[in-house]
Order: sequence, then C-alpha cells, then structure tokens
Amino acid sequence: MKQIIKIEVSARKVAMDECKTDLLCVGQFAEAKTLDKATKQLDARLGGALSQVIELGDFKGEAGSSTLVYTGGKIGAKRVLLVGLGDKKKAKPDVLRKAAAVAAKRAVAIKAKKIAIALHPAFGNKIDLVRSGQLTTEGIYFGSYIYDEFMTNKKNGRSESLSVELTDNNAAAVRKLNNGAEIGSIIGQSQSLARTLANRPPNVMYPEKLAAEAKKIVAGLPGLSCTVFDEKQLKQKKMGGIIAVGQGSEHKPRMIVLKWTPKSTKKSGTVGLIGKAITFDSGGISIKPSAHMDVMKMDMTGGAVVLATMKAVAELKLPVKVTAVICAAENAPGGQSYRPGDVITTYSGKTVEILNTDAEGRMVLCDGIHYAKQLKCEPIIDIATLTGACMVALGMHKAGLMGNDERLIKALSTAAERGGEPVWHMPSGDEYTEELKSKIADLKNIGSKYGGACTAASFLGEFADETKWAHLDIAGPMEPSEPLKKYVGAGSIGFGVRLFVEYLKALAGK
Ligand code: BES
Ligand code: ZN
Ligand code: ZN
Repeated sequence: MKQIIKIEVSARKVAMDECKTDLLCVGQFAEAKTLDKATKQLDARLGGALSQVIELGDFKGEAGSSTLVYTGGKIGAKRVLLVGLGDKKKAKPDVLRKAAAVAAKRAVAIKAKKIAIALHPAFGNKIDLVRSGQLTTEGIYFGSYIYDEFMTNKKNGRSESLSVELTDNNAAAVRKLNNGAEIGSIIGQSQSLARTLANRPPNVMYPEKLAAEAKKIVAGLPGLSCTVFDEKQLKQKKMGGIIAVGQGSEHKPRMIVLKWTPKSTKKSGTVGLIGKAITFDSGGISIKPSAHMDVMKMDMTGGAVVLATMKAVAELKLPVKVTAVICAAENAPGGQSYRPGDVITTYSGKTVEILNTDAEGRMVLCDGIHYAKQLKCEPIIDIATLTGACMVALGMHKAGLMGNDERLIKALSTAAERGGEPVWHMPSGDEYTEELKSKIADLKNIGSKYGGACTAASFLGEFADETKWAHLDIAGPMEPSEPLKKYVGAGSIGFGVRLFVEYLKALAGK
C-alpha cells in the first residue's frame, strides 16, 4: 500500500520576498482595499501583480477561495498563492486553520513539494503565536490529506511529501510558531491516522486489524498500554451486546482497551472515551438499501477517533489519565446473525429486545460504557456515527451532543469551538427513555419514528446511569459537508480528534 502524504511543518526566520519555495501563501481579507505592509513590499517586487489581481476583481478574499500568481523569477518563490480569509470582522481563530487547509490542498493539487505560509499580521495581535502555529499546522494536515493508499497510477498521483515553512521576520515569533507547529503536527498526524483507519475498505480493516493497529501505536509510546478482548474473552465476560452485533460476521468482534497513565498528574479521576467501531454496517438482518451502503465502512469513525486521540494524548504527554474503550465489530447478515425479536443480555445485566439489527451502535457501546464504569472512569464520553436521524436534525455541519451533566456539556462545547469541530447540544433522557420501554425486556433497541438521535442517546444514558456522561453523534460530519469540501478532500474527516484533544488539554490545564 502507498504511504499517505508525508507532511513536515516548521517555522523559519525569513523575509517573505526572499523565501525560496515552490509556493508562497499569503492571506487576504475580503473587501480589503489595501495589502498589509509585508505583502505590499512583495507586490512592489512583483511589479504590482498581486494588487492587479485584486483590482481586477479576480480575487475577492472570500473564505475558502485562493488565486495563484506566477512570479517570473522576480522573488525567491516560484508562485504566490493569495488565500481568502473572509470577512475580517467575523475572523475567528478557525479562519487560520481553514486558510492553511486551502493552501495545503492547493499545494498538493499542483504537486508543490516545498511551500511557505506567511501569517497575516492581523492574527498576530489577536491570537497567541504558539496557538497560531498549532492551528495553521492542523490546517495543513487537514487540507493536504488525500486517501490514496490503493491508487497504483503514479502518473496522476501527488508528491510523496510536502514540506511547509511558517515564515516570520522575528526570531522570538519563530520560536513560538515552532512550538505551536510541534503541537499541531501531533494533532494533525493523529487526525490523519483516524481518517485513514476510517477510509480503509472493510475487506482490509476489520476488528482484528483495528486491534493490531492499536497494538502497533502503543508499542512506540511509553505510558500507553493496550489490552484486546477477542471473541472468546468477550463471551467469558458476558459482553452480550458486542457479541450479538459481531456474531454474524466471519470477522469476529474485539474490544480494544487503551490506557494512558501520565508520569504525574494532579487530577485523580480517569476520563473514559468510548468509540463505536463498526468496521462495516450492512444493517445486518434488517439490511440497509444498497445505495451508498459502501460509506458504512466509515461506521468505525468513533473508534478510529478515540484511538487517534490516545496517540495524540500520549505524544503530547498530557497530565491527565485517560482510558479508551473501542467497541469493534462488523454488522453482517447471515445464519449466525442476531435478529429482530432476539433478547440480548448486555454486559451490565440489562436485557434488550432487538427490534432492528441496524440499531447496532448502541448495542456495542452499552457494553463499552459499562466496562468503563467498572474501571471507575468519570466522565465517560462516547463518540459514534450513531443515527441517520442526527443528520436529518443537524445536517452534516455539526455533531449532536447529549449528556447528563451541564458542566461536561459546556466543557465539550468549548473544546468543539476551539477545535473547529462544531457541535450542537440536543436533549436526551426522560420522555425519550419512556419510548424505549419493552414489553418483554428491560429496554427495546429503538424508539418511535421521531427524534431518533435523542432516543439513541437516551438508550446509552441508561447504561451510564449516575456517572457523568456525554455522547457525540458524528453521523453527520462523518464526511465533509458541501462548504467544508473547499478545505478538505473526500472521505472521512476524522471528526472529533481536535475536539477531544482540546478537551483533554483544558482538563490538564494546558
Ligand atoms: N451507522 C448507522 C447510522 C448512520 C447513518 C451513520 C448514516 C452515518 C450515516 C446506524 O447504525 C444506523 O443504521 N442507525 C439507524 C437506527 C435506526 C434503525 C433506529 C438509522 O439511523 O437509521
Ligand atoms: Zn446500523
Ligand atoms: Zn452503524
């Protein structure tokens, strides 16, 4: 298999016009009549080529837009890329991340090997430079990523690597940007890993393989451990939910447990992250329609994101204890499959009447949540491509966020904002749980026709019980929404890695 593009980011003290590079990227706000001081100098050396593009109206500085200008050897760079930053009044830190993504995406498209990014001075006053370096680097990873492991056609391919320099004239600024780039590289690499795992075809990526990936990651990271329960151990432990979902497939289920133990921590508790990793969701006996069924290879996004987060946490050495429980199974139809009508005794002892085998995510997660509770994790946060209903409610732009603790919801909302991975708080519990009452078991696995995202969350809430718990339904942002496609390629976007890392960084006081 081909390697995913290799990215390197570092900061360097260099003047914009002197920087020798394939592509020099400079930001420009919408409706800005003039260029900033440094870009003006660049423009002068280019004989007004940049201001001309703006005056002609070919480039308006809109967010997500970019225009390529050829330099004819007048400066160190072969090309200049004007990158739109959108409305200056609306500029949030995420603008930096997105602009870097546009630049990196374009750089890969033109097969540039070496690019330079000059931060717009307007951000210098507003955002701390370490954070600017982090956000820009995250954006570079996000925008440059293409899933092409199985592409053998080299002619239409891309460069093997992309080396990025963040340029600044000031040595102290360069140091800060470099610190940020280190953090951003860890987060960006982790997010790309989550994307690759989720994008891998289901004949290649199944529970056993995901477990092997987890073991591989852990091997290189002191303080991070991994235990895998195979189907025999799952049976021994009476983890009825995950066994039921996985029993119809040749590829048997696995529960993958990772523990991060930092050298020192002031926090006593352990955060539990639970990920849904259905490596392919056919729906099982309640089989899905065939159109677009292929995208259900990404039904393991939650698990991939949790695994990638653990890698980032260990690399960042965050001083907070975290345990991850990844519930991996393939939901396949067959003679051994669980069926509508079955009553399953879950790991918690609660019984569930199955009315639709396509509502399988909650059946694996309930065992994962109960296991995390036994390990005394609190809070417990699960992440899952759980319901089509959440997509109907929120579109592909935002993830649904439910939970039983206001402070946790607040902290996760803040982390989502900082990570540029938007969420929307939705209700769960009470009347939704009422809908899950079964005549023959403790619970049914589906509610009524309406509010499916909320009943699914409420089902999980029954297993969290008194433990502080939150749930992220990432069915919508499993893939990029239409506006996001300006910044990011097709397939998984690894939604949740940046959110989780920001949440854990804040917990660790970093
Ligand atoms: N994996 C799906 C949810 C999904 C749908 C994720 C589209 C991403 C994009 C989940 O397992 C599922 O099939 N849910 C059912 C639940 C229903 C049977 C109650 C759904 O949403 O239709
Ligand atoms: Zn399903
Ligand atoms: Zn599913």
